[in-house]
Amino acid sequence: MEQKYDFGLIGLGVMGRNFILNVLDHGFSAAGLDLDAAKVQALKEESDGQASFATTEVKAFVESLSTPRKIMLLVPAGDPVDKVVSSLKPFVEKGDLIIDGGNSYFEDSDRRIEELSKEGLYYIGAGVSGGAKGARLGPSIMPGGDKNAYKLIEPIFNAVAAKAGVDGQDSCVAHMGSGSAGNYVKMIHNGIEYGLMQLIAEVYDIMHNGMQLSNQELGHTFQEWNKGILQSFLVEISSEIFQRKDELTKRDLVDVILDKAKQKGTGKWTSQNAMDLGVAVPSIDAAVSMRQLSALKTERLKAEDMYPRVEKDNASVLSIGDVEHTLVFCYIITYAQGLSQLIAADKEMQYGLDMAKICSIWRGGCIIRAGLLEDMMQAFARDASLQSLLLDVEFADLLNRSLPSVQKVLQYAMMHQIPGLTMSSSLNYFFAFKSGFLPLNLVQAQRDYFGSHTYERVDMEGIFHTEW
Ligand code: 6PG
Repeated sequence: MEQKYDFGLIGLGVMGRNFILNVLDHGFSAAGLDLDAAKVQALKEESDGQASFATTEVKAFVESLSTPRKIMLLVPAGDPVDKVVSSLKPFVEKGDLIIDGGNSYFEDSDRRIEELSKEGLYYIGAGVSGGAKGARLGPSIMPGGDKNAYKLIEPIFNAVAAKAGVDGQDSCVAHMGSGSAGNYVKMIHNGIEYGLMQLIAEVYDIMHNGMQLSNQELGHTFQEWNKGILQSFLVEISSEIFQRKDELTKRDLVDVILDKAKQKGTGKWTSQNAMDLGVAVPSIDAAVSMRQLSALKTERLKAEDMYPRVEKDNASVLSIGDVEHTLVFCYIITYAQGLSQLIAADKEMQYGLDMAKICSIWRGGCIIRAGLLEDMMQAFARDASLQSLLLDVEFADLLNRSLPSVQKVLQYAMMHQIPGLTMSSSLNYFFAFKSGFLPLNLVQAQRDYFGSHTYERVDMEGIFHTEW
């Protein structure tokens, strides 16, 4: 009998090929499809001798799979996903499952789920994090959608996902919730990713341009931090980045990279959707804004001449420990904002999210993996109805202890005219969140003054208006 394959993957770029190799490593058979013959050939060579099949023909690909078929797409978000899905339709059958592993916008997934369910097809939006290396060695996978459909792919995903926890027993994959929950959770993951990356960049600016640490010293500092409370993938790779030389010039590579950051849009989506939900995520907003400001290189260079930096205040001295505490504090605030957005989205969209589970599968494989996620998982395990990490007693203790350092570091940054938009947004979010009183009574008075918008009072129930 002709061999039928357990799993099919469309999009044989490095990430797709690595994902298939990972599947093969775990004893499943797999078929790959790409319209580019060179990529098909690359998979054939890389998977040599294993139970795999690669083709440029959609029909041959679909027919090679055992039913119900499990077909995963690793193609760019947007139109390419719709095009691939359309190309599959003539060949797939009722009960087959299509999984989108890209960074698709969650509303697109809801639309596709609805369209395909009319034809008896299952569709799962699954966030996959960890890049090409993660796909090969174990990514974090965030699938959503129909739970029974998820059961079809669960054994394969469980096998290939990163492992975390004591003795690496926990697979970094779980059913996130209904509909587009998987894409939504991945979008928030990326929003947090933007925040953490920008916080690290701001800390780098302070230590390099303020405290005058060399790249070598920065590399060593990040290496040390990665052994402590800041242990995280982004701190780890930053330590390597600082120590890497440029092959062309032999200079430190980081010094020859242009300071204009690109973006594919997932961070922006997080901010946009937070606005729609009425949730404040200023650290993530600030990180997106900083990428936008970074793009204004020409204007920034011109303005640099117009506003020369004043002499530095030599009196203020910072310790590396202060900077470390600041990064810990701002890391926590950024995760807290993303997690609170998930809680709000869950209420709005009825996804059925489990916050402890989300923190659990982010502990390994993904870009925002960090030691602190273990503590976040425990905070939600202690109280499943926790509305904010800031209301957890253990995090409160950690934040209180770090606060004096954050104040010092931000004061230093402001005195030295070093931008700290994401750090200060994190600190000010904290101050606002913990203020029993905010001066928004005045905003209400102003609204009532010019627009008769009414206000509530502190001393009696009801809606009031004043003839100002
Ligand atoms: C991941 C990453 C991945 C990708 C980002 C980059 O989890 O593996 O988030 O999805 O690298 O989308 O995003 P930007 O190009 O917007 O920085």
